[in-house]
Amino acid sequence: MQAQHTAIPSEEEQQISWKSPSNLAIIKYWGKYGTQFPRNPSISFTLSNAHTTSTIRYAKKPTPSKEVHLEFKFEGKENALFKTKLLKFLESIKSHFPFLTEYNLLIESENSFPHSSGIASSASSMSAIALCLCSMEKSIVGTLQEETEFLKKASYIARLGSGSASRSVYPSLAFWGESERMAGSSNEFAIPYTEKVDPVFLSFHDDILIVSKKEKSVSSTAGHKLMEGNVFADARYQQANDRMDSLLESMRTGDLETFGKICEDEALTLHALMMCSDPSYVLIEPQTLSLIKEIRNYRAETGHPVYFSLDAGPNIHLLYPDHIASEIESWKNNVLQGFCLDILTDHVGKGPQKLSA
Ligand code: PMV
Repeated sequence: MQAQHTAIPSEEEQQISWKSPSNLAIIKYWGKYGTQFPRNPSISFTLSNAHTTSTIRYAKKPTPSKEVHLEFKFEGKENALFKTKLLKFLESIKSHFPFLTEYNLLIESENSFPHSSGIASSASSMSAIALCLCSMEKSIVGTLQEETEFLKKASYIARLGSGSASRSVYPSLAFWGESERMAGSSNEFAIPYTEKVDPVFLSFHDDILIVSKKEKSVSSTAGHKLMEGNVFADARYQQANDRMDSLLESMRTGDLETFGKICEDEALTLHALMMCSDPSYVLIEPQTLSLIKEIRNYRAETGHPVYFSLDAGPNIHLLYPDHIASEIESWKNNVLQGFCLDILTDHVGKGPQKLSA
């Protein structure tokens, strides 16, 4: 994964921008080892409206140095905390991009969703930055010309920033983690999921019901770490593999009911694992449970294939195929809206987009 050539000197400032989406895991990654390797394979829907746009401006340093030189702006303003984290990340990956220390860098990022909306942004932000870095390599070094190689390295680098970010570089559905049943799968990078999938799944909406905008009390990093001492850990990793088999089969055959059951079971398992960690912690809120009950009642009453998922936080992801979107709309606005602060509409998306040369 290392760039092979030395940089070509350039006097002028260059820039590169990528827009990269967030993603929602259906089979969840929870528990890791080594340098961000997952304990089990995961699969996610790539989203669309929830995305980060990142731009890297770079100009050759007048005098060389061994350190990465970074200026960083988040939503137009300097942000010391984000800058420190990003600088640490760039220092940690400079062996993959040896040219990084030869340039002064200005990275600017902005999210399409409000900063304190309660939506985790690491998947979209780390994938956007990884894609920009790969474009830099392509332009400066001349490698990564081939799209498959480009996206593979972008996914690999995104993974080092945030595991789930590895999946955001591909459209529709992405698979991450070594699995016997998936040719080409790897713990090091995600791959696009290209097996047969019933088109109904590619029409899925994913509306995010915001019940809290507060920052999580326990970070995902700490949560993954707590899996190491969790007495259910081994059973969980086996369960994730078993559920993956059933989920992929349900997507192949268009079995919405099985898909929805596994999707909800995965969300609840994730939070159950948090609750039985030592120390235990709870990220869901009372409104999260009220919404879960509403969704299950509505499904039982109407027979509509509408399901929920959760990330590592209290907000509900409302999942349903496009053909029932108009029925869902009035229920969402008249009933669900009453339980939450905001609803951000989203859907399965086409993957990242390069915005400039
Ligand atoms: O990518 P991380 O380290 O923030 O972990 C996120 C894990 C979950 O979002 C809870 C599940 C997943 O697979 O995305």
